Amino acid sequence: MKTLNRTEQHQPWNLESWKNKAIRQQATYPDQQHLNQTLDKLASLPPLVTSWEIKRLKKYLAEVSRGERFLVQGGDCAESFADCNSSIISNRLKVLIQMSLVLIHGCQIPVVRVGRFAGQYAKPRSADLETRDGVSLPSFRGDIVNQNEFTEAARIPNPDKMLEAYHHSAMTMNFIRALVAGGFADIRHPEYWNIDWVKHSKSAEKFSNLVAQIKESVNFAEVLVGTKVHNLSSVEFFSAHEALHLHFEQAMTRTVPRAEGYFNLGAHFPWIGLRTNQIDSAHVELMRGIENPVGVKIGTETDDDHLIDLCRTLNPDNEPGKVTLIHRFGAKNIEDNLPRLIATAKKADLDVIWCADPMHGNTEATSNGYKTRRFENISKEIELSFKVHKENGSHLGGVHLELTGENVTECLGGARSLQEADLSKAYTTQVDPRLNYEQALELAFSIKDFYHQ
Ligand code: PEP
Ligand code: CO
Repeated sequence: MKTLNRTEQHQPWNLESWKNKAIRQQATYPDQQHLNQTLDKLASLPPLVTSWEIKRLKKYLAEVSRGERFLVQGGDCAESFADCNSSIISNRLKVLIQMSLVLIHGCQIPVVRVGRFAGQYAKPRSADLETRDGVSLPSFRGDIVNQNEFTEAARIPNPDKMLEAYHHSAMTMNFIRALVAGGFADIRHPEYWNIDWVKHSKSAEKFSNLVAQIKESVNFAEVLVGTKVHNLSSVEFFSAHEALHLHFEQAMTRTVPRAEGYFNLGAHFPWIGLRTNQIDSAHVELMRGIENPVGVKIGTETDDDHLIDLCRTLNPDNEPGKVTLIHRFGAKNIEDNLPRLIATAKKADLDVIWCADPMHGNTEATSNGYKTRRFENISKEIELSFKVHKENGSHLGGVHLELTGENVTECLGGARSLQEADLSKAYTTQVDPRLNYEQALELAFSIKDFYHQ
């Protein structure tokens, strides 16, 4: 087994050292001067998150690594500028609040909520070019790079899109902070977080009963103790996105007064995608220099040495809460792959959080050409994640989901038993199929059951 030694792990790092590594999945900008001017501008704009918040999240994640807290991470596969509006943002928060309440109540464990939002604008692609009817154009790489429309003008990477992404992230974060501070998540006012289109859903009914029960318990506790329970509205959200666009991530990586090291102030929790997690990767290089907790996707192709090198490179001091391994094997492959990686991490004494992404290993195409996922496979992969961790003396720390609060028809199955023919009704995702509100809430109730099995 050849793994990196300690001197290799502590190689010098600087903001630009990623440029000497293998750079994958980046756009080619035709105008370098325009790119550089934009990056200077970006680097001068205020941060989107603070170092204090980042440190607080890392503390919560250290609790997750000890099994004292559960991580719920969710949001769009790709955010779009067009979806940066009040109802889409608040519906997404409502789903995450409801799911976390189901878990807090059902598992009796605190939850840390991390959104795939306020910056999830860059997407990895399998090819640099897309060809239609003999015409080849640069692939769409997310709203931070270019536009989806299949025309030459739309597909040319434009640095101004990075500024737009920054502004949309700031607007999203601002709205979320204001909602949360204003009592949006107050348990005494569940009417704030009802989602209109699901009044008659079975899960929604189950959820209202649960809220009624919680309210009753709170009233009981207040009468018993003789004082009001405070902080019932204090729900925190942390932001996360795939740290894919390296120029953008570098511009958001900064030092702050009175704290050591560099912080990525564009999101609390950046993660490295599966396509850029190689040990020689520029993405791993940029991420190893920051103080933020970082996620890294792993899959069937991740071998034992790779896992050890990744963890030691990103977390040479083995700090608890620093590295979250987001595993995405697919329901069919998890039992063949997860046990060996758990054993490897144990043998190498790696302090990591294991988080299940049951979405990206379960994508399939339907006969009518839709990219979809089956609810039963998503649910199965989470069930197996709990089981395999338990059987191997480890524990599942959290889940990573693609979901929306909208009434979309992108994933098959769930309570309404969505069929292939239903997919065309409301298939609006820019990239991957997401769970709709009903499916997400149903999944939360299943997760609660798996937790106890
Ligand atoms: C994603 O999370 O949207 C994604 C592209 O995942 P992965 O890197 O695991 O393929
Ligand atoms: Co995705």
